[in-house]
Amino acid sequence: MKIGIIGFGNLGSAIAQKLLEEGHEIFGWNRTPEKVSKIKGARVLSSPWEVVRSSDVTFTILSDDEAVEEVLLKDKEKLSELPEGSIIANISTITPYMSMRLERELGKAKLRYAESPVLGGPQAALSKNLISLLGGKKEIADFIASIMRGVSREVFYIGEVPKASALKLVFNSGTFTAVELIGEMLSLASSWNIDAEIVKNVASKTVLSQIFSTYLDRGLDPNFPPYFYLELAAKDLSYAIYSGRKGGSFTPAIAGAYEAYISAVKSGLGKRYYGAIIRYLLGK
Ligand SMILES: NC(=O)c1ccc[n+]([C@@H]2O[C@H](COP(=O)([O-])OP(=O)(O)OC[C@H]3O[C@@H](n4cnc5c(N)ncnc54)[C@H](OP(=O)(O)O)[C@@H]3O)[C@@H](O)[C@H]2O)c1
Repeated sequence: MKIGIIGFGNLGSAIAQKLLEEGHEIFGWNRTPEKVSKIKGARVLSSPWEVVRSSDVTFTILSDDEAVEEVLLKDKEKLSELPEGSIIANISTITPYMSMRLERELGKAKLRYAESPVLGGPQAALSKNLISLLGGKKEIADFIASIMRGVSREVFYIGEVPKASALKLVFNSGTFTAVELIGEMLSLASSWNIDAEIVKNVASKTVLSQIFSTYLDRGLDPNFPPYFYLELAAKDLSYAIYSGRKGGSFTPAIAGAYEAYISAVKSGLGKRYYGAIIRYLLGK
């Protein structure tokens, strides 16, 4: 199939690579075009619009609401010139409000939209281990699912827009808050001179076992590869709080975790692996 990818950052590049290996043709655009050329076999096109025109379906894998707005919605004239019925699916983690806007604006231009956020990062994509959440009209979501199975171990249809985007924020909030809590626990322990290794050994016998075994060593390793930036975790937490508040949710733990992440971003750790929040809380 001809697949368009708009956004060749950490995640977009990995998904493009794996879909190529699965036998698809890849047509790509990135603000910094060199990143598309790094993926051998991907065709570099000169605009997002050219990507949509050349592809059976196009995925956006961009940083945030602002990036999606800038690329897809800034020039609505261009949107309305695209072939009727073209499908654009969004993988980027965005707010449910932006997702609803995309559905509305693409609909006005007679294009079709689906949500396709994922749990898991570049390594998971390359090893077909993502968990894909799909949202939108069922028949379009089913079509997107047939492609996302090439990078995923599980694919779930969540429902109408924006449920998949909202659920993605629910899970990221849980993970990022849990990782931040490891940092707080270690910080408390260290104030009584209890070593991280002892905390880890005891944790391995408790319900916290999996979260500690997955994140503690990575968080303490200053050289762990930054496949998911800390600044993106801060962004996701802010989106979760903002979106939840409008719906009446009370999320003090997530708000507290956000404070820690944003403080780490301000101290210059934005482009580090997000588990660096643990070292940040330990003052390392
Ligand atoms: N990495 C993960 O493990 C992971 C997992 C699940 C979900 N996600 C989500 O997937 C999305 C992409 O993540 P990532 O890790 O690939 O991020 P990334 O490495 O920081 O890449 C961000 C991408 O967005 C583009 N971009 C940013 N602002 C733009 C703008 N104003 N106009 C045009 N392009 C713009 C960047 O272009 P340039 O290359 O030109 O800067 C790049 O292609 C995010 O929403 C993230 O939360 C990531």
